[in-house]
Amino acid sequence: MEALTPTVGIAGLGHWGKNLVRNFEALADLRALCDLSPELRESFARRYPNTRVTADFAELAEDPELDAIVIATPVPTHYTLAKQALEAGKHVFVEKPPAMRGEEMEELAALAAERGLTCMPGHLLLYHPAVRKLKQLVDAGELGDVLCVYGNRQNLGIIRKDENALWSLGVHDLSVILYLLDEEPSEAWAHGNAFLNPGVEDVVFCYLRFPSGKIAHMHLSWLDPHKMRKITVVGRDKMVVFDDMDPERKVTIYEKGPWQAAETYGEWQTRTGDIYSPKIPNDEPLRLECQHFLALVRGEGDREQVARDGVAVVRTLEQLQSSLAGIPA
Ligand SMILES: NC(=O)c1ccc[n+]([C@@H]2O[C@H](COP(=O)([O-])OP(=O)(O)OC[C@H]3O[C@@H](n4cnc5c(N)ncnc54)[C@H](O)[C@@H]3O)[C@@H](O)[C@H]2O)c1
Repeated sequence: MEALTPTVGIAGLGHWGKNLVRNFEALADLRALCDLSPELRESFARRYPNTRVTADFAELAEDPELDAIVIATPVPTHYTLAKQALEAGKHVFVEKPPAMRGEEMEELAALAAERGLTCMPGHLLLYHPAVRKLKQLVDAGELGDVLCVYGNRQNLGIIRKDENALWSLGVHDLSVILYLLDEEPSEAWAHGNAFLNPGVEDVVFCYLRFPSGKIAHMHLSWLDPHKMRKITVVGRDKMVVFDDMDPERKVTIYEKGPWQAAETYGEWQTRTGDIYSPKIPNDEPLRLECQHFLALVRGEGDREQVARDGVAVVRTLEQLQSSLAGIPA
């Protein structure tokens, strides 16, 4: 029998962790917090006096009162901490990317499946109401056959020195591309360059090809004059753009496409119809993501699907990274 209001502990109280604390405090029974920083522990202990605070992740993992553990620590720690929590019998929500190697994520997914637990990666954009709209349009066949998808995630900054633009920015677009197309790529190529910090690519271009023949592209960069957060889906009948920088028109549908008039003997022409923006709910994606995790903990929904999504994303990132580093596939 699963708890109606799951008890939750959170590790990693940094820039992103504080948002998870705010949401889980509102949605669940938040009992414990963990961070290596004494200053953060002290400040969170003051703000959340009903939670226990520790520096020791093992204490959180072994806490018999907790149903679930949320991990928002730096990326290289994710796999080890998630594994420790699953082995202790806890449901796990682990920030993106949940592991740095496909094999590691497969191991986490298998461990979760074996123990009947959730291992959910933090693929935030999948909970964005605009991405849900794209998925609905694709699945309903509104766009006709989808031909290609591309993501633009560019800005000037934040310049990272521990992870490249592929790992820092690419997870978001990749999780959406794989979700929309519902396939894993048969080819994954990446090119890029490290201009600022040796070995850390600031600009990365990725190309993906899928068994169905669909193709995808991602432009990931923190050296760019444009702040862009855009995903474009090109269908044979219609095209749609999700622009996360547009406060009002998040999704725009273009009734544009190629067509062949009978009298032109097979020559392609183009067709332009209406351009419109459906209303997109203003719900906070992180709130929806936390709600989904708690539903899975309660036994509602497909626990194995979220872990499989994590496997597909990490496996593809790993292939792209090998290509970027010039390692033959
Ligand atoms: N979904 C999103 O849109 C999104 C956005 C930002 C960050 N993130 C992810 O969130 C994670 C954290 O990013 P951040 O920007 O908050 O980093 P951060 O450096 O601000 O915070 C990480 C915290 O983890 C703590 N920590 C490190 N090792 C620990 C351990 N073993 N046990 C307990 N605490 C430990 C650190 O002391 C630090 O306070 C990353 O995985 C990042 O990819 C996701």
